[in-house]
Amino acid sequence: MVLASVAAVDADRFQYFPPDYFRKLRKAEVFPDPERPLEVDLGCGDGSFLAALAAGHPGRDFLGVERLLGRVRKVCRKIARAGLANAKVLRLESGYTLEWLLPDACAARVHLLFPDPWPKKKHHKRRLVTPEFCAGLERVLEPGGEFLFKTDHAEYFEEAMAVLAGRDRLGEVDWPEDAFPYPQTDFERLWRGQGKAIHAARFVTVRSD
Ligand SMILES: C[S@@+](CC[C@H](N)C(=O)[O-])C[C@H]1O[C@@H](n2cnc3c(N)ncnc32)[C@H](O)[C@@H]1O
Repeated sequence: MVLASVAAVDADRFQYFPPDYFRKLRKAEVFPDPERPLEVDLGCGDGSFLAALAAGHPGRDFLGVERLLGRVRKVCRKIARAGLANAKVLRLESGYTLEWLLPDACAARVHLLFPDPWPKKKHHKRRLVTPEFCAGLERVLEPGGEFLFKTDHAEYFEEAMAVLAGRDRLGEVDWPEDAFPYPQTDFERLWRGQGKAIHAARFVTVRSD
């Protein structure tokens, strides 16, 4: 019992608490070396993808963003068990994190993988990919930084692609499956297992002038 709670406290070290939620962070406040590339996984769920990426890229840092406490705790345990010094998780809303909290030009890649599709029309306003979200992406991505997006939901994909196509500073690039190693997320495994089609898109920041 005592050992179990010591393990929980130890794992909680991997939850990231911003010093102030009402100003932009400095990159060095998230991970100690701001020169290292940072990747952000929005809505990281149980953190399998985050942990797999962090294990495969020890020279980069990985921040998961997840709003559900139970999932944040699972991510912390996964990071602790794998002994990863380059991964942390922030319990916060993804839109707020992107639009208001992360520093300008801090991220080499932002991943949005199988976000909640909110299929009912009355809930569409809860969908993440909006012009405000895209403005946050453009601000947070470093020059040449990438946004990687996957969903199983065809109609949400179409809607998100229409929003993304309207952005001057984000250009779509090819994303063949063998472009680079990219672990499957828990939801991707689930949907592929059910034979669902997966829709994927990759964007890179471009200069607008
Ligand atoms: C469908 S799951 C996908 C999880 C993971 N990306 C995967 O592919 O396995 C969506 C996750 O995003 C989280 N989430 C949904 N909306 C969010 C938001 N606005 N901010 C932060 N997390 C959010 C949910 O709690 C859930 O864990």
